[in-house]
Amino acid sequence: MSLGVTVDIMKSIIEKADVVIAQVNRYMPVTCGDSLVHVKDVDYLVEFDEPLVSYPLQESDPEVMQVGKNISRLIEDGSTIQIGFGRIPDAALMFLKEKKDLRIHSEIVTDSVVDLAVSGAIPPSPAGGRGAPITASLCIGSERVFRFVGGNSMVEMKSLSDIISPATILSREKFTAVNGAIEIDLTGQSCVGMGDQMGYFGALGHAVFNRTAMFSPGGKGIIALRSTSRDGRFSRIVPEFTDRKIGIVTTQSDVNYVVTEYGCVNLFGKSIRERALALITIAHPKFRQRLLDEAKRMNYVYEDQVLPPEGADYPGSYEGLCRIGDKDLLVRPIKVTDERAVQNLFYAMSRDDRFHRFLMHVSSLHHKQAQDLVTVDYTSSMALVIQNGQGRQDEIVAVAHIAPEESRGTKKVCEFAAMVDPSWQNQGIGSFLLSRMIAVGRDLGYSLMRAYVWEDNMQMLRAFEKLGCGMTQELDCHVYRVSLAIE
Ligand SMILES: CC(C)(COP(=O)(O)OP(=O)(O)OC[C@H]1O[C@@H](n2cnc3c(N)ncnc32)[C@H](O)[C@@H]1OP(=O)(O)O)[C@@H](O)C(=O)NCCC(=O)NCCS
Repeated sequence: MSLGVTVDIMKSIIEKADVVIAQVNRYMPVTCGDSLVHVKDVDYLVEFDEPLVSYPLQESDPEVMQVGKNISRLIEDGSTIQIGFGRIPDAALMFLKEKKDLRIHSEIVTDSVVDLAVSGAIPPSPAGGRGAPITASLCIGSERVFRFVGGNSMVEMKSLSDIISPATILSREKFTAVNGAIEIDLTGQSCVGMGDQMGYFGALGHAVFNRTAMFSPGGKGIIALRSTSRDGRFSRIVPEFTDRKIGIVTTQSDVNYVVTEYGCVNLFGKSIRERALALITIAHPKFRQRLLDEAKRMNYVYEDQVLPPEGADYPGSYEGLCRIGDKDLLVRPIKVTDERAVQNLFYAMSRDDRFHRFLMHVSSLHHKQAQDLVTVDYTSSMALVIQNGQGRQDEIVAVAHIAPEESRGTKKVCEFAAMVDPSWQNQGIGSFLLSRMIAVGRDLGYSLMRAYVWEDNMQMLRAFEKLGCGMTQELDCHVYRVSLAIE
């Protein structure tokens, strides 16, 4: 006999129950995997045919769609995904149709998983004989899901204890767990149910999936939520949980990625200060200042911490990839949360490199100076960073700035400066940033780019020279004033 679409905890129940009564229903599909029970383990059979309980897809809204899109950016080809049901998981799965070689290892199979399989993003037989591409414990959705799983060897149904087994999760490469939260506090701990409602929420595999995913090779734990309540009245990123009877499901030490419609942050291994700031940057803009004030009151962040100026929207269109050797590195505008990473880059530079960058001897980069480097208004100034890896600890290997220098009549002039980690120098990153910044400078309305380059800084001079056009150099007190028309 097949347990059909609800293998779940059925086997444990059958094992423990004194009397086992099975309903025989012709609407229930026979499923593959670990879904069979022997008729001798059943005391009574009741024949009764009835359509299975089905749940229609819930309607989405632009915010939820954006959360889904942001989640999809974190999911790489070849990932095994754990994801639940509801509007955010449905939106995320919708944006994965262009990905390749995905697998599902989840408690639930839904209509959206079926759509993904039909799109070809989940191949029927994964390379290397790795078993069924979809393993799950139950199905929730419409008639379509039940038809899809019936006799389909692509879907292997398993007991919940097997699905949630850390050993199984760890054996999968790039295991990516996507789970929701009702609220997340500024330290990164999150809850799925609150106070009196807690009785209705089983935490299920949420915590195990999230924690274990991070330790699978290339794995990620993602907590995804809308930044506000649906009516927009409350922020769901909070200084402290709003209900004292809260049940925390992911703890401060388990948190990895957090995604809202305003972006994605990686909190793993970060200090409380970095976490609070990172979470504020993905909160709804109307709550950000209030959250920052609260974070200051709680001594989570520096008293003088600032956010990018209001109205300075993060220019995501400047995000992209930069191919260096055989590696694709992420290029993106700087964020206020990059302070520590920029400090790390600064301290990795030699004394000479620092001198070349700042044209004076600077031996330390304290919070105030680092904050100035990472806070740009994106409208008159810009900074791009090159980030290595989307792993647990993201490393910034280079940063370039342009800022207004002066206005000469109608000529708008910006000043360029850059620094590249010594172990990444002479591989083309400086030149890449220079040409990218020329394009950005043009977009911001500048007509001339200028750089002040120490006379023996052959690398920077060479990078300018390689552009091969429209450049002038004037030497004054050991410093070349390099000017480049960028109109
Ligand atoms: C200047 C800097 C940003 C350049 O970055 P980078 O990633 O090393 O630059 P690139 O690899 O694109 O280009 C460097 C070029 O200089 C060349 N070069 C290196 N040493 C050289 C030397 N002694 N003489 C002549 N050319 C030299 C490299 O071969 C390369 O040219 P190529 O592509 O033709 O081979 C980086 O070296 C740095 O951070 N320096 C310290 C800070 C600094 O000087 N900032 C500039 C302030 S405006």
